[in-house]
Amino acid sequence: MNILLIGSGGREHALAWKMKQSPLCERLFCAPGNGGINQIAEHVDLDVDDHRAVATFAKGNDIGLVVVGPEGPLVAGLADELIAVGIRVFGPQAKAAQLEGSKGFTKDICAKYNIPTAAYGRFSDEAAALDYLAAQNIPVVIKADGLAAGKGVIVATTRAEAETAVKNIFGGMFGAAGAEVVIEDCLVGEEASFFALCDGETAVPLATAQDHKQVGEGDTGPNTGGMGAYSPAPVMSAEMCQRTMDEIIKPTVQAMKDIGAPFKGVFFAGLMITDKGPELIEYNVRFGDPECQVLMVRMKDDLVELLVAAADGNLAGRQTHWRNEMALSVVMAANGYPGSYDKGSQIGNLNNASAGDGVEIFHAGTKIEDSKTLAVGGRVLNVTALGKSVSEAKEAAYGAVKKVDWPGGFYRRDIGWRAVQREKG
Ligand code: AMP
Ligand code: GLY
Repeated sequence: MNILLIGSGGREHALAWKMKQSPLCERLFCAPGNGGINQIAEHVDLDVDDHRAVATFAKGNDIGLVVVGPEGPLVAGLADELIAVGIRVFGPQAKAAQLEGSKGFTKDICAKYNIPTAAYGRFSDEAAALDYLAAQNIPVVIKADGLAAGKGVIVATTRAEAETAVKNIFGGMFGAAGAEVVIEDCLVGEEASFFALCDGETAVPLATAQDHKQVGEGDTGPNTGGMGAYSPAPVMSAEMCQRTMDEIIKPTVQAMKDIGAPFKGVFFAGLMITDKGPELIEYNVRFGDPECQVLMVRMKDDLVELLVAAADGNLAGRQTHWRNEMALSVVMAANGYPGSYDKGSQIGNLNNASAGDGVEIFHAGTKIEDSKTLAVGGRVLNVTALGKSVSEAKEAAYGAVKKVDWPGGFYRRDIGWRAVQREKG
């Protein structure tokens, strides 16, 4: 079948790389793509915010599956528009995408279905939010309700910081995403990401990962989209995975059915493993970036077949299969990221760097111009490797990173540190 992939990040490069391996994949198109994706998929010049244009392209090119990478188009209703004209799509419709699009929506579902999560209050009025805050313990977590590109969460360690966060959000710091504010208790434990496919009725676990959100080594400094990840997450024992399915994912599947918005797509559950067990921090309704990259190099199944089964409601009785090796991905970012950064610096020696066994270099913010690879985004490359342990995967990934010739970029040298420490005992 012909497939159209929507997105331009390292996540989409990993999805494209994996889908290309499927015997089911005939032509693979991507909009807008990037320098890496466009080497393995046909670039389509489409405005992905123009849903009608995407549907028209899909109709005209015999597309059997549209795979939507990022959350924006899902929350904006791209899947609804495609389904309305009979096109198969992997990714939830707008109402179900509220699980990511509105933190308050998800918290209310957790409350109603007894899903373990931090205690919270939800406010559309600043004075009421400040009143509630006055009675909370510190640290406390302040969140803009809507999509804020991963920046709408403030873990406040003083009361003054918490009050400022509430005022800033209501003051428009995150635009419309901050029309509502959620105030949550601060959970204590180790974080992990859990992924499961869902066809509206049945959820099938994928795998787990852990990412490093902060830009600085030792998990310090401002948050980013993610500076690296590894899979599986050592904290996610078989028991924790089972509990996550039973206590978090399955009740969510039921909740979404009950409100008439069955969830079809991938659940990306951000978890805190507290002394009580897994608790939900947040849902995303798409694969993580760079978590997807470490998942895809470990997945043994045919990805296209799984995504079609999720879209068609055929996941019942299925399981997914994973390589025993660990995967680790190091993000190389443009100097200055996540602040302002230069564009257009040249990257060299990529073929040589990715030549090692089990090493894949996924592109994020790159473009190819006159056969040169240029950095055009903040996060630019995801150097990903497999190994028998996290330490081995780390060594292989950094071995490749060091071969990349890119003076315009930087990377964290400690991706996987917590897991490596565990392995060393
Ligand atoms: P989110 O964008 O909701 O994933 O939040 C970003 C980060 O903020 C999470 O990865 C956590 O590190 C932290 N965070 C969010 N909510 C809480 C919470 N209730 N307790 C502790 N940390 C949290
Ligand atoms: N790496 C975190 C995310 O994709 O949201």
